[in-house]
Amino acid sequence: MMTNTPQSYGGVARMLHWLIALLILSAIGLGLYTEDMPRDTDAAVATLKTLYSLHKTIGVTVFFAALVRILWALSQPKPVPLHPERRLETFAAEAVHWALYGAMLVMPLSGWISHAAQAGFAPILWPFGQTLPFVPQSQTIAHSFEIIHKISALVLYAALALHIAGALKPAVIDRDATLARMTRGTAAGGARVPHGLAAPLAALVLWAAVIGTGLLLPAPDDGPAPQGQTQTAAVQTGNWQVTEGRLGFTVQQMSAAVSGQLPVWSADIAYDPATGSGTVTVQIDTTALTLGAVTDQAKGTEFFDTAAHPTAGFTAQITRQDGTAHLASGTLTLRGMEVPVTLPFTLMLDGDTATMQGQTSLDRRAFGMGASYPDEGTVGFAVTVDVALTATRRG
Ligand code: HEM
Ligand code: HEM
Repeated sequence: MMTNTPQSYGGVARMLHWLIALLILSAIGLGLYTEDMPRDTDAAVATLKTLYSLHKTIGVTVFFAALVRILWALSQPKPVPLHPERRLETFAAEAVHWALYGAMLVMPLSGWISHAAQAGFAPILWPFGQTLPFVPQSQTIAHSFEIIHKISALVLYAALALHIAGALKPAVIDRDATLARMTRGTAAGGARVPHGLAAPLAALVLWAAVIGTGLLLPAPDDGPAPQGQTQTAAVQTGNWQVTEGRLGFTVQQMSAAVSGQLPVWSADIAYDPATGSGTVTVQIDTTALTLGAVTDQAKGTEFFDTAAHPTAGFTAQITRQDGTAHLASGTLTLRGMEVPVTLPFTLMLDGDTATMQGQTSLDRRAFGMGASYPDEGTVGFAVTVDVALTATRRG
């Protein structure tokens, strides 16, 4: 029989129970195993990434299987407790069942939201994208949901321990049909009894507390402030002093845009508003770069190789095109490679204050970046660079 009766679990309920049990136990195993894995070599990081991807893919599968299971359970009679006269035991068993239903949703959703808020490392192995519609890119959100994910794991362990003990004690000690009902679909138990609301409410309060704790715990800062950390160059010959600025870049990773910052740089700018021409020399500290969850990979030998090339530089001629439109044409030195680069930008002058904003697109291959990612499947070729700064004229 595929459907439940008041005394037995049907084939569908049993199949979903054991499928989800298997998936959840695998996800827990992978989650705990990856936690303690070494991450010291590129090979170790690659293995770690595969295992995390597997963990996430299994977890997301649990979510959809749980939805099916819940819809199915709603359409079915719930088998009666075998010992309704043991009030406390029955309550405990049902509260744990509800807690487990909660875990089937909260575990995958918290992991998924955390992943979507910081898409990057270790994608879910599916073609539906890595972000979620209502989840913005934010390290703070990623962190809160990571905490919820970890606390939920503890709740899940406790619920599972009680659940398994509750399933084995009757089977081994009481020798009743509790386990057989779920394995072989054996029918057992008396007439239908009404189910109280206390057990589901207890589970609901428990999960609300877990989610509340995760959201309310203070999240650490979003790392170093991404803006305005310009350093003054040792020797500044130009007639403009940068007061604040921002140097960012965006790359497509696993079909999701990932944005990074190069927060530490200095610019030496000479510019004559009368002629609209000048020169600019920018020095960038590549070791300060951040790129969401994949900062370490970005700094590694494959990409910026910051250990061998801790600085990058851009030297260019500035020419006015028309009104506020300007071009900076010169050479970008990155990873030891010199590549001609033109940066179109706008420059607004207000007295002695200049505000500039520009954007250009580079090809990572021109700098020998990501040689072992020869196509755009993992990392796109195009890197969009965004620059904005404010400078004041020196006396
Ligand atoms: C992650 C793993 C597991 C989850 C999420 C889970 C969840 C549940 C839930 C929600 C129920 C209530 C009935 C239903 O809605 O279908 C249930 C029943 C049951 N589970 Fe599990 N379970 C898991 C693992 C296990 C394991 C490992 C065992 C065996 C050792 C087990 C044995 C049982 C039994 C015997 C029942 C029937 C209880 C009764 O007849 O009242 N479960 N499980
Ligand atoms: C049934 C579903 C899931 C279960 C049972 C589960 C379980 C776990 C466990 C036990 C850990 C280790 C926690 C710790 O160190 O305290 C973990 C970590 C993690 N899980 Fe899951 N997970 C599930 C679904 C997901 C999903 C769907 C995603 C993402 C799409 C995900 C992403 C992660 C990540 C990124 C970590 C590492 C967090 C960190 O320590 O920084 N998980 N998970």
